[in-house]
Amino acid sequence: MNRRERKKLIIIIVILLVLTIICFSGVALLKNRNGGDDVPVNPGNENNEANEALDPVVAALKKETYFIESRLTRYLDYIKNNPDKDMEEVIRSVNANIDYAFYTNEVESNVNDGTLIIVNKFHKLPEDYNPDLVDMSSAYTYGSFKMERTAYEHYKEMCDAAAIDGIHLYNVSAYRSYERQEYLYNYYTKTGGKDYADATSARPGYSEHQTGLASDIITSDEDKHFENTKEYAWLIANSYKYGFILRYPKDKEYITGYIFEPWHYRYVGIEVAKYIYEHDITYDEYYAYFIEK
Ligand code: DAL
Ligand code: ZN
Repeated sequence: MNRRERKKLIIIIVILLVLTIICFSGVALLKNRNGGDDVPVNPGNENNEANEALDPVVAALKKETYFIESRLTRYLDYIKNNPDKDMEEVIRSVNANIDYAFYTNEVESNVNDGTLIIVNKFHKLPEDYNPDLVDMSSAYTYGSFKMERTAYEHYKEMCDAAAIDGIHLYNVSAYRSYERQEYLYNYYTKTGGKDYADATSARPGYSEHQTGLASDIITSDEDKHFENTKEYAWLIANSYKYGFILRYPKDKEYITGYIFEPWHYRYVGIEVAKYIYEHDITYDEYYAYFIEK
C-alpha cells in the first residue's frame, strides 16, 4: 500500500466511524424521547390497549354508554356469576348496585344533592334529615299532606296543566315521617309477610316519601287499576315536563327493588326528568353515572 492508498483508507475508516457514532446517538435519542425501556410514554393507555386486546369482555364493557371505570372489577365479577346476562344488563345492574344484596353496603344519602338526593335500598337518609316542607292545598290533595317546597311548586303546575287537558290528579301520600314509614312497613309485614313488605314498601329511613319529593297520585275512578287510567297515560306523557319521573317503572323491578308503582312520582327537576324520560333509565342508574361516579 502506497502512501496515497493508506491516506484514502484512513479517510474511509474515519467516515465510517463518524457515521456509526451518528447512528448510535440517533437511536439513543429516540429511545429517550419514548422514555426508555422502563418508562412508556403513556403507561395507562398502553396497558389498557393491551388489556382490551387480550380481553374482549373489558373492551365490550367499555363501549357501553353508562360504563363506570371504577366499577370494572364489579362488572367482571357480576359477569362471572351471571354469564347469561348481556353487557347492557350487567352495566345497568352493577350501576344500580344489585350485585349486592338489598340493604347491604349501604351509605348515607348525600344531603348536599338537594332535590337530586338519592334514596333507595343502598342509600339511607340521615337520621336528622329535615326537608323544607310546605302544606299542600286541598285543591291538590286528598287528606292533609306536606311536600318539599320546590317540588310542590312544580307539582301544582303539573296538576294545573293536567286539569286543562281534563285530567284530575290528586295526591294521596307525599311527605311521610320516619315514624309513619315505620308504621306502614310494619303493617305490610304483618299483613303480607316480609318479602311482600320489602317489595312494596321502603323500610323506615329508606323511603323517598321522607324527602317530601315524592307523591302517590290517584284518580277518582277507583274501579280501575291506576295503570289503566287516562290519568296514568297523561302522567307518562307529560310529568317529565314538570320535573317528575315515574320512579318504580314496570320491568325495572330488578333494579329498583320495588314492584311497578304507576302512582309514585318523584321530583328531580326538569332537565334530569327529561333525560330519564328520553333514555328510559331509572333514577338509580342516572344517579350512579351522572352524580355519584
Ligand atoms: N312504596 C315506596 C317504595 C315507599 O314506601 O317509599
Ligand atoms: Zn309512593
